[in-house]
Amino acid sequence: MQFMDSMAFLCLILSSILSLLIFNFIFLRTVHFRRRRLRLPPGNMGLPFVGETLQLISAYKTENPEPFIDDRVSKYGTVFTTHVFGEPTVFSADPETNRFILQNEGKLFESSYPGSISNLLGRHSLLLMRGSLHKRMHSLTMSFANSSIIRDHLLVDIDRLVRVSLQYWTGRVLLMEEAKKITFELQVKQLMSFDPCEWTENLMKEYMLVIEGFFTIPLSIFSTTYRRAIQARGKVAEALILVVRERRRESERGETKSDMLAALLDGDGGFSDEEIVDFLLALLVAGYETTSTIMTLAVKFLTETPLALAQLKEEHDEIRARKCELEALEWEDYKSMPFTQCVVNETLRVANIISGVFRRAMTDINIKGERKQIPVSFSKKSTWQGAMS
Ligand code: HEM
Repeated sequence: MQFMDSMAFLCLILSSILSLLIFNFIFLRTVHFRRRRLRLPPGNMGLPFVGETLQLISAYKTENPEPFIDDRVSKYGTVFTTHVFGEPTVFSADPETNRFILQNEGKLFESSYPGSISNLLGRHSLLLMRGSLHKRMHSLTMSFANSSIIRDHLLVDIDRLVRVSLQYWTGRVLLMEEAKKITFELQVKQLMSFDPCEWTENLMKEYMLVIEGFFTIPLSIFSTTYRRAIQARGKVAEALILVVRERRRESERGETKSDMLAALLDGDGGFSDEEIVDFLLALLVAGYETTSTIMTLAVKFLTETPLALAQLKEEHDEIRARKCELEALEWEDYKSMPFTQCVVNETLRVANIISGVFRRAMTDINIKGERKQIPVSFSKKSTWQGAMS
């Protein structure tokens, strides 16, 4: 009996391996013939479903995140085909091609992000929206960013949050963690007027799980990180929808606050609860990882450049000398920091933390008039580094 069981088990394993081999063979042949038919740029589609996602993710976990691009550029040229985050993708590190893509936004290409990012952000996030809703949301964001609300409150809020955080800095400080915490708390304040509390702390914990899910294969069956991220996204959305509903009630009672949510609730034509939640969720993502990484890198670069650090300190000390101990920074102070502005600009230039953007071809596109093509069913990744070089 035991022998029969072992035989059955062995048979099962062997037939699974055989089916996998046959499946892989069919997949690779199909890809090969399809590529020839479609005149795709050269490249490698990797394994079924997974493609080359794992190679891309592991490259981004090293100190030099570029080997994924560099290796393929040296093998196939600056425009190559791959399969990442669940989708066949043409990757471009060619400045001319990248310029062409960005100049033809809305005509030949549209903004589109892989399933892992779009499922987690929600379809009403600014990165994924198109058409008139995108225009309305975009201009509302821009007018809020330039409004007197930001001018009057932002620096005071930053000043307060940094002072509170500094009180707890003893011994070894993990700067990136601190920068993330400050950035998150500042954003929640600007978006929904919440001061740091247990609610914001819990929201941040769930948020971190959502962000971890961006660089995974967007199939729950393959990735626990992605599964956990989807669950966390649900929890964040639930928490935000309660806030939106409460604020609608407050607004009906004539109570208003000076934040992004108030601007959305008063927005021309109105927005649904779902649109507002996706929008807020995506804005928190857009500003959180980017700003905190740039802040940390600015400190690293300044530490490595003592002359610049001394000049920056001199500029800040002059402003500090005109103020009392607890007086917060104001808009005018911020505007009188030309050297600090140079440090920010140079950090943004040197630390190009967004290494690529995704676009989808709206029609078959010939690359630089060659016999290579991006078919309409493919997404397009153009790297900013390519575009900038
Ligand atoms: C150093 C900091 C930042 C960097 C490097 C950065 C980079 C980028 C890039 C490259 C895009 C274009 C994406 C695309 O075209 O596919 C983008 C879009 C966007 N970013 Fe940022 N970002 C930063 C900070 C922020 C902050 C603080 C916010 C807001 C809180 C923000 C909100 C947005 C939004 C809403 C969009 C989409 C705009 C639209 O499609 O209308 N970003 N960002």
